[in-house]
Amino acid sequence: MNIAVIGCGYVGLVSGTCLAALGHQVTGVDVNTQRVAALQAGKVPIYEPGLSEMILQQTAARRLTFTTDLPAAVREAQVIFVAVGTPPSPNGGYDLSMLFGAVEKIIQSAQSSKTIVIKSTVPPGTGEKVAQLAAQSNHRLEVVNNPEFLREGTAIRDFMNPDRIVFGASTADGLAVLREIYQPLIDRGFNILSMGRASAELSKFGANAMLAMRISFINELSRLASAVGADIESVRMGIGSDPRIGPAFLKAGIGYGGSCFPKDVAALLHQMESLKIEPHLLAGVEKANQQQRQHFVGRVLEAVAGIKQPEIALWGLAFKPDTDDIRESPAVDIARLLATAGCKVRAFDPEAMDNTQRVLGSTISYTTDIISATTGADAVVVATDWPIFITQNWHTIKQVMRGTHIFDGRNCLASGKVGAAGLHYHAVGRPPISPGGGREGTVGVVVAG
Ligand code: NAD
Ligand code: UGA
Repeated sequence: MNIAVIGCGYVGLVSGTCLAALGHQVTGVDVNTQRVAALQAGKVPIYEPGLSEMILQQTAARRLTFTTDLPAAVREAQVIFVAVGTPPSPNGGYDLSMLFGAVEKIIQSAQSSKTIVIKSTVPPGTGEKVAQLAAQSNHRLEVVNNPEFLREGTAIRDFMNPDRIVFGASTADGLAVLREIYQPLIDRGFNILSMGRASAELSKFGANAMLAMRISFINELSRLASAVGADIESVRMGIGSDPRIGPAFLKAGIGYGGSCFPKDVAALLHQMESLKIEPHLLAGVEKANQQQRQHFVGRVLEAVAGIKQPEIALWGLAFKPDTDDIRESPAVDIARLLATAGCKVRAFDPEAMDNTQRVLGSTISYTTDIISATTGADAVVVATDWPIFITQNWHTIKQVMRGTHIFDGRNCLASGKVGAAGLHYHAVGRPPISPGGGREGTVGVVVAG
C-alpha cells in the first residue's frame, strides 16, 4: 500500500520505517526542513536502538523516502498516518493545533478518496471532530484511529511485536483498510482489537494513566517502606508475584517522566473535570510523582548539608535509558532543583547531553564521561538507569570522589558492591547501606519491569 506518514518524530519515524519493513511504500513527511534534509542524507535525528540501521535498509530498498512536500505525498498515498505531536496546552488539556493543522492540509491536498489514520495520542472525541472536517471534502476521506503503544528505547520491537493493535473505526471500510495495512502482523497472530473511535482513543489514555498510577502507587508505598524499615524491592515482589497484579511498572524511583505519562495524565484529568466527573484517583497520581523527586532531592541535600557549595555528580539526564529524550525527565528537574539549592552539578548521560544543554544551558556543567563527572564529587546521584552506570567499578568511583554518598534514584545499583567499596548507599524505599555493609536477600537484584 502507498502510505504517507505525517510527522517524523519518535512515533512517525518508527511507525513509518516499520510499515516499510512490512512491505508498504512509505513517504515520511515533516515540516522541519532540517530534520527531513538529515533523513534524506541517511542521518537519523533521534536516538532509538536499531532505528538508523532499519531506516538505511528501507531507504536502500526504495520503500522509504522523506519529504517536506505534504500535498504531493498526500496525493500519491492511499492512506495517510498522522503522527504529529500533541503537546500539553497551558490550560491542562492538549494542544491539538499541529494535529488539526496537518489534517486541514491533508483535506486541501486530497484529490481522490483516502483513509486518514490518527496515530497521535488524542483526547476521546478528537477522531469524531476530524471526521466532521473530513466530511467537507469533495472526496471520501475515511477517518480511523490507530493509537500507538510503543515505548521509546524498545520502539521497533514494540511496533513489530505488539501486545495488541487497536483499530478504532466507525465503518467496515475503515476497518478493512487497517486490516490490510497490518495483515503481515495479523498473519503472525498478533492480537487485533476493533472498536469504535472514542473507545480506541480512551484505551490509549487509560493504558498510560494506569501505568502512571502504578508507578505513583509504588512510589508512595516506598515512602512508607522507608518509614517502617521495609525494602520496597522485596515488597514489589511480594505484591507483583500475584498474577492479578504482576511486577511490571511497579519499580520505585524518582518518578515517571517522558513526553507521554505526564501529559496524558494531565489531559485525562482536564477532560474529566470539564465533563464534571471527579477524578479522585488520577488527581493524586501527578502530585505523588512531583513529590517523589522533591523528597529525593531533599535527602541528597541533607547528606551534603554543611559543605559549602556541594559538588554533585549527576549520572543520567534522559527520562529513561536507551533514549536521548529529556522531555519531562525527572533527572533534568533534579538537576535544576540541586543547582537552585546551591550545588555545583556535573552531569553525564550517554545520549542526552546535547538535548539537556539546549534546555538547561550553563545551569549545570556537562562532562564527557562518568569519571570526569564524579571526580571531586561529594555525592553521586543516579537519575537514569543506564546499564553503563550499573556496571561501574565502585572502588574506582570511591577513589575519585571527595565524599562517599551514592544516591540511587532508580534502585538499579548492586547495593552490596557499593557498600563494599566503602561508600554510603541510599536508594528509594530501601534501607540505606553503610560503608563496608551489605544487604541480605535481594542484594543488587534488578528485576525486569
Ligand atoms: P515528536 O515531537 O517527536 O514528533 C512530531 C513531529 O511532527 C515533529 O518532527 C514535527 O516537526 C512534526 N510535525 C508537526 N506538525 C507537522 C505538520 N503539520 N506536518 C508535518 N510534520 C509535522 O512527537 P512523538 O513523540 O513522535 O509523538 C507523536 C504523537 O504520538 C503524540 O501524540 C504522542 O503523544 C504519541 N505517542 C508518542 C510515543 C512516544 O514514545 N514518543 C508513544 C506513543 C504515542
Ligand atoms: C510509555 C508507555 O509505556 C507506552 O506504552 C506508550 O506508548 C508511551 O508512554 C506513550 O504513549 O508515549 P515511554 O514514555 O516511552 O512509554 O516510557 P516507559 O517505559 O513507559 O517509562 C515512562 C517513565 O516511567 C520513565 O521515566 C520510567 O523511568 C518510569 N518508570 C517506568 C518507573 O519509574 N517505574 C517503572 O516501574 C516503570
